[in-house]
Amino acid sequence: MTSAFNYRNGTLHCEDVKIDRDFLETYGTPAYIYSKAAFRQHYNTLKTAFSGLDAQICYSVKSCSNLSVLKVLAEVGSHFDVVSAGEIERVLTAGGDAQKIVFAGVGKRDDELAYALEKDIHHFNVESAREVERLNAIALEKGKKARVVVRLNPDVDPKTHRYITTGKDENKFGLNWEQGRVLFARHQELPGIEFQGIHTHIGSQIQDAKPYVQALERTLPFAHELRAMGLDIKYLNIGGGYGIDYKTRTNAVADDFAKAITPLLKNEPFKILLEPGRSISANAGILVTRVTDIKSSGSRRFLIVDAGMNDLIRPCLYEAYHEIWPLVSETDPVNLTEDERGPHADVVGPICESGDFLGLNRRLPGMEIGDGLAVFSAGAYGFVMASNYNTRGKPPELLIDGAEVKVVRRRETVEDQLRLELEA
Ligand code: LLP
Repeated sequence: MTSAFNYRNGTLHCEDVKIDRDFLETYGTPAYIYSKAAFRQHYNTLKTAFSGLDAQICYSVKSCSNLSVLKVLAEVGSHFDVVSAGEIERVLTAGGDAQKIVFAGVGKRDDELAYALEKDIHHFNVESAREVERLNAIALEKGKKARVVVRLNPDVDPKTHRYITTGKDENKFGLNWEQGRVLFARHQELPGIEFQGIHTHIGSQIQDAKPYVQALERTLPFAHELRAMGLDIKYLNIGGGYGIDYKTRTNAVADDFAKAITPLLKNEPFKILLEPGRSISANAGILVTRVTDIKSSGSRRFLIVDAGMNDLIRPCLYEAYHEIWPLVSETDPVNLTEDERGPHADVVGPICESGDFLGLNRRLPGMEIGDGLAVFSAGAYGFVMASNYNTRGKPPELLIDGAEVKVVRRRETVEDQLRLELEA
């Protein structure tokens, strides 16, 4: 897979656009830059990898939810996994079809359930018996039937960061087998509900197909048990979570996952749903930033940059690694040994917290104030997790298509932030 972000003639390019000093002057920093081609390519790669199954990809909107990005995915035929009424509104505003939306999430409010029913989304991925009861009441009141897929917690360990593990019995997500059995057995008491399937999502940034296989080995017999009870179980949603490699900035694992999962599902009567987020969006985006100060303390050298935990929280929240490299470089860092990369530095942001870093103890070439850096693989859980901490405006999002740059969300100003308080 060729990356949409390449070093050519000594400068980083996104598709055909040179991310040089002029670019930074024009659009300012920090800024998120997305490649349209990369979104399309990552979607198509997954679609091809799972082509041995009757599978539908539902892009996980939460990973990168800009309207223009959703539009690109709608155009290539993606369906959408959402977790709030707000995300439903995003998909519809981007021109997506309500019948291609599946709605997951713990703690959906009544107004969100009602909104989704009114919009006639494809189905709800419910997370508890009480949620089903509330949805049943709302559906009956509206004279509608809610199509429901039940999220089960298969209790497998996906071996990822504990904050993004979701399918172990200590996690808040879904129902366990016993609770699931009790709920499905009540189907006749719930006339506003049409049970249609089973959902599992075991975690995120998963590197190995084994936990998916384990989850399926538990889910499949259960799905057949439900069919034997007379329930019309059509859908098996196996969730998202396919990891990427943040060091090489590649999406190598999708094929391996598909190879491990396909044989288990090939002869099953279910339509398979997948909910990838990161494996589509992470390597379709970078965050660009400029050095605002350089200082040392003891043995540490600090490169102080204009992007911080308010723009990209992953390094400080999960100790996540994102490749960071100068925009001007003859060589891509993947082709360098540690020693060739340069002296150590902590790349830190402007926020008043010691946890505000983008990368600690990184080997980087010597930099000057004003030099630009790329923080790679930032398309997923980047902008969407940004905040206004320290009253910093959220960065703009730019979408590149060939040689064309489009500002798909402008930089937030202080006035944007103050307006809500002045109007209050
Ligand atoms: N489906 C459900 C029900 C989910 O909760 C998630 C992610 C996905 C699909 C998509 O997972 P993906 O393919 O992107 O791994 N903020 C964290 C990740 C949190 C994931 C939340 N749920 C991070 O930055 O690593």
